[in-house]
Amino acid sequence: MSLSKVVTLPLSLVLFGACVGAGAPRATPTASASAESAGEPARESARFPDGWRLPAGASSTFASQAMAVSNSSHASAAAAEIMKAGGNAVDAAVALGFALAVTWPEAGNIGGGGYSIVHMADGRSAAIDYREVAPLAATRNMYVDANGKVTDRSIEGHLASGVPGAVAGLNMLLEKYGTMPLSRVMQPAITLAREGFVIDTALAGSMSRAATMVSRNSSVTPYFPNGKALPAGARLVQPDLARTLQAIADNGAKAFYEGWVADSLVAEQKRGGGVITRADLKAYTPVSRNAIASTYRGYRLLAMPPSSSGGVTMTEALNILEQYSTVPAYGSTRWFHLVGSAFQRAFIDRNSKLGDPAFVKVPMEQLTSKAYAKSLAATIADTRVTSTKALEPLMQQPVREPEHTTHYSVVDAKGNAVSTTTTLNNSWGSGVFVRGAGFMLNDEMDDFAVQPGTANMYGLVQGEANAIQPGKRMLSAMSPTIVLDKSGQVLLVVGAAGGPTIITGTTQVILNVIDHHMSLADAMRAPRVHHQALPDSLTYEDGGIRPAVLDSLTKMGYAMRKLRVLVNINAIMRVKGGWEGMPEPRRSGGAVGY
Ligand code: DON
Repeated sequence: MSLSKVVTLPLSLVLFGACVGAGAPRATPTASASAESAGEPARESARFPDGWRLPAGASSTFASQAMAVSNSSHASAAAAEIMKAGGNAVDAAVALGFALAVTWPEAGNIGGGGYSIVHMADGRSAAIDYREVAPLAATRNMYVDANGKVTDRSIEGHLASGVPGAVAGLNMLLEKYGTMPLSRVMQPAITLAREGFVIDTALAGSMSRAATMVSRNSSVTPYFPNGKALPAGARLVQPDLARTLQAIADNGAKAFYEGWVADSLVAEQKRGGGVITRADLKAYTPVSRNAIASTYRGYRLLAMPPSSSGGVTMTEALNILEQYSTVPAYGSTRWFHLVGSAFQRAFIDRNSKLGDPAFVKVPMEQLTSKAYAKSLAATIADTRVTSTKALEPLMQQPVREPEHTTHYSVVDAKGNAVSTTTTLNNSWGSGVFVRGAGFMLNDEMDDFAVQPGTANMYGLVQGEANAIQPGKRMLSAMSPTIVLDKSGQVLLVVGAAGGPTIITGTTQVILNVIDHHMSLADAMRAPRVHHQALPDSLTYEDGGIRPAVLDSLTKMGYAMRKLRVLVNINAIMRVKGGWEGMPEPRRSGGAVGY
């Protein structure tokens, strides 16, 4: 691989918003208060650095039967409504997915794609892959100009979009594991689009940040009447989107891929030099895969296999950490060192060996094996950093700062669970709004190695395995995950937004719960850390590291990088008597249960 640019990591999130909870708030249990009962591990009080802005000991939302957590309280409420009406977690997750396309248009979508891990109480589980694919007219160098330079057309504008998979994927999820018809579960979304909903400060902020970019690519949208973003408190009504959703509800996914919605999408593509055709839409097929079933200290993980890198990379990092019989204290120098080194090694493999399994042979067995992890753990020196260059001489540096994706988690009273991550890639995708059909298109093509060896917008330097080919799925970092406890019951439903930090952030919530016995609220509020091999640095959250630890890590040779916020996670955890739900405390969202 030849390498050029200079990487910056995703500054994934900016806003702090209110988290809406609609079950009962519940105080964090302490070690003395929490007895270890069947399957529910005892929780202990957490300790974070002095002055950390999200102190330990906060509460999450408790519900005795069912819970939905997402970045939009309207969408979480749609899921709870469906479960109250007799639907299962899958019905609710599909309702939530369509509602998010209405209430969280920066990332909730029907013009993008995603992944769902489902685990049914009867023991069935699956990984549904509805990632976008490259259009049939895509070519390896379509984003490289005559001088060999990568253009920004994989990020913005009509050419940036992959063929959307969300509608087909949600439909497949519902058909395989749901109990209600599509027309019923889509009702809340249709009502939200048709009648509108009141914009909160988080959505108003997101719209105002996106106004220039979207207006550059789309002339008329409901978000920016007269070119200006609607303010908080205004009502967002989306009649075109309501019509599109109604068509899907009436006629199934076909309405999106073959009917007038498909015509609108193709017409929009033609207007701006995009290449998605009717044939692309007709050919789109979601895939039901086996979830990666790995273990960590006796707990079972159901994680996303390729075309996402999430499950493999998390498994590899966790397998490395499992080689250590004792877990260093949370936030200690050794904790940062081991966790950072495990991520660094897992990302080296991720960046070079993973791609769409329909196009490349992925060495899954090796990468997820404990024996391989043992050999990688042996390369971690006790008191100093190993450079990525020394570990993987083929790799190097990159550019650009990103945004957005969204994760939601749903559980029902029977113990069925769905963990879904969905994205347009960047916040508000390609900036292209499909006129007449009312939705934004993704810019997922940038997740390919648009020039193998050169960084993408997340600074990820990826190889041939992820080069562009027609019909191929671009590699993702999305990591929807379900953790089962030692008795086989759902313990955690978790996943995130934030490009490559999705993998490391999701892993840390799992580590915080399993290794550090934190409550869900503490596990979510704990300062986070990130390493993705290149750039060869350890990224931490501002205020999230003790000064002495920062000093020791620097002396060990780490290039330390500070960001205000890492990752946007939405999670549910089983606790005595029910569930706790927690939307990202660094952002906005809603946990709604009953
Ligand atoms: O699939 C991926 O890995 C990226 N498209 C995810 C982008 C993302 O999470 C941006 N969010 N904050």
